[in-house]
Amino acid sequence: MVKIAVIGSSSMDLVVTSDKRPGAGETVLGSSFKTVPGGKGANQAVAAARLGADVTMIGCVGDDHYGAAILENFKQNNVSAANVEPVTETESGTAHIILAEGDNSIVVVKGANDHVTPDFVKKSTELIKRADMVLIQQEIPEETVEYVSDLCKEFGVQLLLNPAPARPLSQKVIDNANYITPNEHEASVLFNGLSTEDALKQYPNKVFITEGKEGARYHDGEKEVLVPSYSVDAVDTTGAGDTFNAALAVALAEGKSISDSLRFANRAASLSVTKFGAQGGMPIRKEVEETL
Ligand code: RIB
Ligand code: NA
Repeated sequence: MVKIAVIGSSSMDLVVTSDKRPGAGETVLGSSFKTVPGGKGANQAVAAARLGADVTMIGCVGDDHYGAAILENFKQNNVSAANVEPVTETESGTAHIILAEGDNSIVVVKGANDHVTPDFVKKSTELIKRADMVLIQQEIPEETVEYVSDLCKEFGVQLLLNPAPARPLSQKVIDNANYITPNEHEASVLFNGLSTEDALKQYPNKVFITEGKEGARYHDGEKEVLVPSYSVDAVDTTGAGDTFNAALAVALAEGKSISDSLRFANRAASLSVTKFGAQGGMPIRKEVEETL
């Protein structure tokens, strides 16, 4: 079992489904409202655990009932939450999601996730040191991402950075990370000015650009490679990127080749979109392997 440490957000997703997305000043009637666990960090932790990794989450929740539900969800999914702390007088992170017209739109309120600071993460240094792979995203403070990238570099621990949601990264973080997985929009923010083609060429075997149902693209040092995804009937694409990143981290940590790891990640992500909710549909190992 590979050891994965996830440093990131844990949130509650408040999901409304409606036929139409309201415009500014408009009210529409929706058809359902559901509250399900989410947050990019927590989603990646749960996905990695379902795929058979030994996963520890490092994060913060609020001292509200969402926080308690998030902790319970880690337990149900075999994610160690010993390093997830409730923060007093703070609300849990929430994501306000509208599923309409075949796509989602999301407003994230970070809440307790803003307490995932370098000082907080420092308490988990030993755990990070022992990890086979560290997985991090950007729903936590920017300085934490930089701090973790320095730690990983210092200890020689592999770091996979999922630069979502988009924000510019320092060159140091880009250099410290072993793997970076932007989608096309995030890539344009990260490699400001560079075309996708040039960004891939500049970071061979390190930057993987995800293109949703098309698959993922990287440069192998000689040429650009597209690893195609699988076509499925999508019910809810929320969390597909998280499943992709978790699966990629697990496969790379196990020593699989980059192209095999991307194929595994594409398959896992494609299965995840066939069910409602960020974590609904995240496959277990067997489901991925049987359909590869
Ligand atoms: O990546 C999907 C996640 O992003 C959702 O679960 C939601 O919490 C948003 O933050
Ligand atoms: Na899903």
